Amino acid sequence: MKVCVIGTGYVGLTTGACLAFIGHDVTCVDLDGAKVELLRMGRSPIYEPHLEELLALAASRLTFTTDYAQGVSGAEVVFVAVQTPSQPDGSPDLRYVQAAAEGIGRVIDGFTVVVNKSTVPIGSGNWVEAILRESFQQHHGRRPDGDFAVASNPEFLREGSAIYDSLYPDRVVVGSDNPRSLETLNRLYRPVLDQSFTPPTFLNRPEGVGAVPLISTDLASAELIKYAANAFLALKISYINEIGQLANKVGADIIQVARGTGLDSRIGPRFLEPGVGWGGSCFGKDTAALVATAADYNLPMPIVEAARQVNRRQRDLVVENLLAELRILKGRRIGLLGLAFKPNTDDLRDAPTLDIARRLIEHGARVRLHDPVAMHRCRREQPDLAPFLCDTFEEVFSDSDTVVLLTAWSQYLELDWSKYAGLMGTPIVLDGRHVLDPNRMAAAGYRYLSLA
Ligand code: UDX
Repeated sequence: MKVCVIGTGYVGLTTGACLAFIGHDVTCVDLDGAKVELLRMGRSPIYEPHLEELLALAASRLTFTTDYAQGVSGAEVVFVAVQTPSQPDGSPDLRYVQAAAEGIGRVIDGFTVVVNKSTVPIGSGNWVEAILRESFQQHHGRRPDGDFAVASNPEFLREGSAIYDSLYPDRVVVGSDNPRSLETLNRLYRPVLDQSFTPPTFLNRPEGVGAVPLISTDLASAELIKYAANAFLALKISYINEIGQLANKVGADIIQVARGTGLDSRIGPRFLEPGVGWGGSCFGKDTAALVATAADYNLPMPIVEAARQVNRRQRDLVVENLLAELRILKGRRIGLLGLAFKPNTDDLRDAPTLDIARRLIEHGARVRLHDPVAMHRCRREQPDLAPFLCDTFEEVFSDSDTVVLLTAWSQYLELDWSKYAGLMGTPIVLDGRHVLDPNRMAAAGYRYLSLA
C-alpha cells in the first residue's frame, strides 16, 4: 500500500521505517529540510537502537521529502505523527497537528484515511476532520464527498525499544467512525497482526509471539485507550514509589516488596521499578492532558493527579537525601550520572536529571553531568547546563562529594567503580534507580545509599 507519514520524530520515523520494512511504499514528510537531507543519506536524526539498520533494509521503499503533495498524493493512508507539546495549563499544543491537517487537505486525491498517531486530546479526530474539510474545500473548490476519513491509531512504542514495540506489539488499536477506514487499516497492519513478515536479523521474533490482537473501535474510544494506558503505567510507577517511601520508614526493602507484589499475575512485575520516577515525552504530558480534558467536563481525576504529585516528589527526594547526607549543599561537588529520561535514548524531554541538576545548582552545589549519548543534545537544547557537562568519568568523580546514579545506563552498571572511588572527596554513591549492588559498591570503597 502507498503510505505517507507526516513528521519524522520518534513515532513518525519508527512507523515509517517499520511499515516500509513490512512491505509498504512509504513517503515520510518533514518540513525540516536538514532532517530530510540526513534521512536521505540513511542517517537517523534521533538515537534509537536498530533504526538506522531498519532504514537501510527498507531503503528501496522509503522516500523522504519536505513536499506534502509528493507524500500525500496517491497515498491510501496518511499518518499524522507531529509533536504535541504541553502548554502551561497541561493541554497539548495542537498547532502542528492543525498545520499537518491543512497541508494534507490541500493535496488529497482519492480516498485517503488520515490517521492521528500524535497523542491528541479526546475529540481531536473530529476537529482534524473539520480542518481537513475546510482545507479540502478551499483548494479543490468543492465540498469533500467521501474523499477521506479520519482514524485514530495510538502508538504504544517505548523509546529505546521503538522498533521492537512496533514489530511485536501487544495489540494494535484502530478507531474510526468510518468502516472503510477500519478495513484499510486492517489491511495495512495485516503482516504485523499475522506476524507474517520475516523478522530482521538484528531483532528476532521473540518466542511465544503469535497473532497480534486488533482492537477496532470508534474514534473516541481509541483516543481514550491511549490516555488510559499511559496514565495507568504512570500511576503504577508512582504507586511503587509511594510504597517505597513507606518501606523506608518501616525498614522494608522496596525491591523485595516490588517483586513480591508484582508476581501476582493480576498486578504484573513490569513498571514497578522504584526510583526518581518517570520522565519522557509521554507520561507527564498525557497525565496532564487527561486531567485537563476531565476538567472540561468538571470531572476531578484524583488518582491521576496523585500519581503526578508523587512523581514530582521523587525528584525532590534526591535533593532531600543529599541534604540529609551532606548537610550543606553549597559548594559541594555532586556528580549526576545519566541525563536521558531513561537508558537507550538521547531524549531529554522532562528528564528528571535536568530538574534535579537545576535544583542542586540553586542550592549552590557544583554539579557535574554525564551521559553516554545525550551530552551533545543537552549542550544544544539545555544551554544553561552546558558548562556542567563532563566528557569523562574522571571529571565526574574527581573531588566529588557524592555521585548520584539517575539513569540506569548499562555503562554505569558495568563501570569499574573501584577505579574511581579514590578520586572522590568522599566516596558516596546515591542510587536513584535501585540498580547498583550495595555489596559490590561497598567492596569498591563506597558508602552506598539508595533513594529513600
Ligand atoms: C511510554 C509508554 O511506555 C509507551 O507505551 C507510550 O507510547 C509512550 O510513553 P516511554 O516514555 O518511551 O514510553 O518510556 P517508558 O519505558 O515507558 O518509561 C517512561 C519513564 O518511566 C522513564 O523515565 C522510566 O525511567 C520510568 N520508569 C519506567 C520507572 O521509573 N519505573 C518503571 O518501572 C518503569
